[in-house]
Amino acid sequence: MIVVTGATGNVGGQVVALLAAAGERVTAVSRRTADLPEGVRHVRGDLDDPAGLKDAFDGADALFLLVAGQDPQAILDAARAGGVRRVVLLSSQGAGTRPEFYRHPVAFEDAVRRSGLEWTILRPGGFHSNAYAWAEPIRASRTAAAPFGDVGLPTIDPADIAEVAATVLREDGHAGRVYELTGPAPTTPRERAAAIGAAIGAPVRFAEQTREEARAQMLGFMPEQVVEGTLAILGEPVDAERRVSPDVERVLGRAPRSFADWAGRNAAAFR
Ligand SMILES: NC(=O)c1ccc[n+]([C@@H]2O[C@H](COP(=O)([O-])OP(=O)(O)OC[C@H]3O[C@@H](n4cnc5c(N)ncnc54)[C@H](OP(=O)(O)O)[C@@H]3O)[C@@H](O)[C@H]2O)c1
Repeated sequence: MIVVTGATGNVGGQVVALLAAAGERVTAVSRRTADLPEGVRHVRGDLDDPAGLKDAFDGADALFLLVAGQDPQAILDAARAGGVRRVVLLSSQGAGTRPEFYRHPVAFEDAVRRSGLEWTILRPGGFHSNAYAWAEPIRASRTAAAPFGDVGLPTIDPADIAEVAATVLREDGHAGRVYELTGPAPTTPRERAAAIGAAIGAPVRFAEQTREEARAQMLGFMPEQVVEGTLAILGEPVDAERRVSPDVERVLGRAPRSFADWAGRNAAAFR
């Protein structure tokens, strides 16, 4: 049995669907109610309350773990006590490139490495789905605002992250690996706005924000340290953040999906 945390999220929801479709027994954990495929067990749980996860972990072999909650060691101890032998951690590229800003993912990575479990760490860069932040303004006024409009980064499709996670959870041969997950090519925010315009068949105007405007907006939903790290990546990416990684293709045997592909599949959100 495989336990999937973050089952209501962009990535976790698709991990649950892929594992269930492959015939695995799945326990989906979330604080909110989740819309799940038939046959998937749901356990309401909070990663901030590892003792409350006992029921979820009982009889499990593997765990898909998000960075959430304050005590990764206690989560992993509870998982091991329930029978878990393999853990796949959804960390962040910033844990490698900007550890001073990404302390929470770094702490989870350290705990996973020390856990005694068979581990694999996934380090995605920015998600294609961060463009959902533009859904309401594009629907309302065909405008997309972002800072650093001409800085390109190889964002990744959350569906590809989920497919890598589901593969690594089920397959041997990934123990002790850290996979950097990116899309197939860098795109700039201006190009992403244009790709959404192409997907909905109507031009989308790109409005460049100042760093301060973007900072103020991000502080509404991210901790300050993560905001500073994110702005640094978006504005002054280092080579490791600009680079297209071969790891999605290594694991899946196919290239990662482009931003334009994601925009085409998700066009309804922007119409
Ligand atoms: N977006 C990016 O560009 C990016 C880049 C690199 C890494 N990441 C990492 O990827 C992760 C997943 O991204 P996503 O887009 O799938 O996120 P998302 O759609 O916002 O979903 C977050 C999930 O985390 C769960 N969660 C949050 N706190 C929890 C807690 N205390 N206990 C249990 N579950 C909790 C939520 O479930 P409930 O609220 O239902 O409990 C939800 O299912 C992010 O959290 C981040 O660490 C994101």
